Amino acid sequence: MHNDLQEILITKDQLQTRIKQLGLEISSGYKDRRLTLIGVLKGCVLFLSDLLRNISIDTNVDFMMLSSYSGAQSTGVVRTILDLKQNIEGRDVLIIEDIVDSGLTMNYMLKNLKTRRPHSLEICTLLDKPSCRKARIPIKYTGFVIPNKFVVGYGLDYNELYRNLPYIGVLKKSSIEVDDTCR
Ligand code: IMP
Ligand code: MG
Repeated sequence: MHNDLQEILITKDQLQTRIKQLGLEISSGYKDRRLTLIGVLKGCVLFLSDLLRNISIDTNVDFMMLSSYSGAQSTGVVRTILDLKQNIEGRDVLIIEDIVDSGLTMNYMLKNLKTRRPHSLEICTLLDKPSCRKARIPIKYTGFVIPNKFVVGYGLDYNELYRNLPYIGVLKKSSIEVDDTCR
């Protein structure tokens, strides 16, 4: 385990087992349709690549990058940094996200993508942290529901570090400047 962590919350094996199941669920859920995955950069990269390997139907992939500014006032303002290359009108779209926390990022994504008139629009998140939810988000596929702890690894970062860890862990209090209270 990395030195900055206090515990491993989800092991590499648990991740891989659950992602295989999600791949099967998605493949049968979208049977005979062509699926468009939209990964939300950068947190989605490990999850998306493992999930993609476990999806057996025809699938194309695109990416968006968003930035959220949640300073002291926590306005939840989200901005598009990188937009899709593809036109998603009439497509079956599944958003691939690392974690849904307050839900403000996903709320923005849903509103933004709905205006492009996809045939269907659903969410698949590796982690769901529902304790501080501020917007109601309908999640179709969830990897794991987790408690209100700041987690890193498997794509998730703290100040751009720890994305490479093959498991999900909780940072030691001494390594982190955010606390676990809802902002
Ligand atoms: P939301 O808009 O509050 O739902 O937050 C979504 C984004 O905040 C996620 O896509 C992550 O990038 C980041 N985030 C929220 N919780 C965590 C965490 O525990 N660890 C790392 N990043 C997090
Ligand atoms: Mg993210």
